[in-house]
Amino acid sequence: MDTSQLALLALLLGAVIGGSAALVIMLAIRARDRARIETSSEIPAGVREVLHGMDDAAIVIDASSTVLAASAAAVPFHLDEGSVLSSDELRGIARRVRSSESAVTATLRLRRGAPPAEPRLVVVRATRISARLTLLVLRDITERERVEQMRRDFVANTSHELKTPVGAVSLLAEAIESAADDPDQVRDFAGRLTAEAARLAQLTSRIMNLSRLQATDEFTDEREVAVDEIVASAVEAHAIQAGSTGVEIVRGGERGLYVRGDAQVLSEAIANLIANAIAYSPRGSSVGVGVKSVENVVEIAVTDRGIGIAEGDQERVFERFYRADQARSRRTGGTGLGLAIVKHAVQRHGGEVRLWSRPGRGSTFTIRLPLIDPPVDQVQPKKRRKKKRATPAAASHPTNGAPA
Ligand SMILES: Nc1ncnc2c1ncn2[C@@H]1O[C@H](COP(=O)(O)OP(=O)(O)OP(=O)(O)O)[C@@H](O)[C@H]1O
Ligand SMILES: [Mg+2]
Repeated sequence: MDTSQLALLALLLGAVIGGSAALVIMLAIRARDRARIETSSEIPAGVREVLHGMDDAAIVIDASSTVLAASAAAVPFHLDEGSVLSSDELRGIARRVRSSESAVTATLRLRRGAPPAEPRLVVVRATRISARLTLLVLRDITERERVEQMRRDFVANTSHELKTPVGAVSLLAEAIESAADDPDQVRDFAGRLTAEAARLAQLTSRIMNLSRLQATDEFTDEREVAVDEIVASAVEAHAIQAGSTGVEIVRGGERGLYVRGDAQVLSEAIANLIANAIAYSPRGSSVGVGVKSVENVVEIAVTDRGIGIAEGDQERVFERFYRADQARSRRTGGTGLGLAIVKHAVQRHGGEVRLWSRPGRGSTFTIRLPLIDPPVDQVQPKKRRKKKRATPAAASHPTNGAPA
C-alpha cells in the first residue's frame, strides 16, 4: 500500500467517523426536543389557531388543570385562559385521561353564564396531547336532548290519548255483534261507534297538524297574507257551530292589514280560538274577533264571555292534551290539542299568544304577529302606509310570550 492509498483510506475513515458523530448528535437533539414537548407546558404551534376556529367549547389545560388556551365558546362556561378548572367532574376527567393512553368521553352538567342560568348538558371528550397537556372538547347537547325529550313525551301522550277511542271502537263493535238481534240496540251502538270514529279521525288529524308544526322544516306556502282573509275563513269555518249554540260572532277592528306566512296554518290557529270561545261559552252569548295594529305588530284577539280559565291553568292550557276541565272538554269532544297547535303555529311565524282570563267572566286570547306592508298590487294611493312600516317586524319581535 503506497502513501496515496493510505491517505485515501484515512480520509474515508475520517468521513465515516465524522458522519456518525453528526448523526448521533442530531438524534440526541431530536430526542431532547421531543422530551421537552412531552414535559413542557408550552402549547404546540398551531393549537391556538385550531381552537379559535372551533364552534364547540374547547380548552387545553396543563397538569395543574390551568386553562392555557380556550376557544371562544368555552368562555361562557367560565373556562377562560388562565383560569383553573372549577368543576370537580372536569378535573376528574382530566386526571383520568392523563393516566391513560386513550381518549375519555363523559356526559355532565356544567353551568354556563351567571349563576341563575340553568346548567347545560355537555358531552366532554378529553384527549392527551402530551404528558402535561390535555385537550378537552365540550359539546352542548342541551337543545338536542330537549327536542328528543319532547318527541318522546309526544309519542307517549299520543299513544295514551289514542288508546281510549280505539278501545271504545272495539268494545262497540263487539256490542253490535252480540246485540245483532235487537235493531234498536244495534242502531244505538252504531251511532256511538260513528261518533268514536269521528273523534279518532279528528284526533289523528290534529296530531298530524301539530307534529308538522313542530318539525323544523320551513313552510312551503309562505306569502303575504291578508289578515281579513284568514279571519273571515276562520269565522266561516265555525258559523255552523256558532249557529247551533246560539252564539253570535262579532268581527271588528282594522281592515287591510298584512302578515307574512302560511294562510292555511294561520287561519286554522284563529279558528281553534274561535272554536274554544264558542265551546266554553253559554248559549246565546257573543264572541268577538278584533284586529288592530300596534306599532309593528298585528293583534288578532278572540274574546268570549264564557266560563274563563283559573289562574293556575292559564299557563298549562297551551300544553298538548291539557284540558282545564276534563269532563266538560270531553263532552265538547275536545282533544286538548287546539291551543298547542295555536301556540306552535304562531311561534313559527315569529309571533306570540297572550291570554287574559277571569273565571266566570270570560277570556281573551290574542295572537300577535309581525306586521308587513301590503303587497304592491294591493296598495291604493291614498292608503299607502308611511315609510316607517316598511320593514317586517320579525327580527325585533319577541318570539314567545306564551308559556311553554
Ligand atoms: N275560551 C276558553 N274559555 C275557557 N276555557 C278554555 C278556553 N279555551 C281553552 N280553554 C281550556 O283550555 C283547554 C285546552 O284547550 P284546547 O283548545 O287546547 O283543547 P280542547 O278545546 O279541550 O280540545 P281541542 O283539541 O278539540 O281544541 C280546554 O280543555 C279548556 O279547558
Ligand atoms: Mg279547543
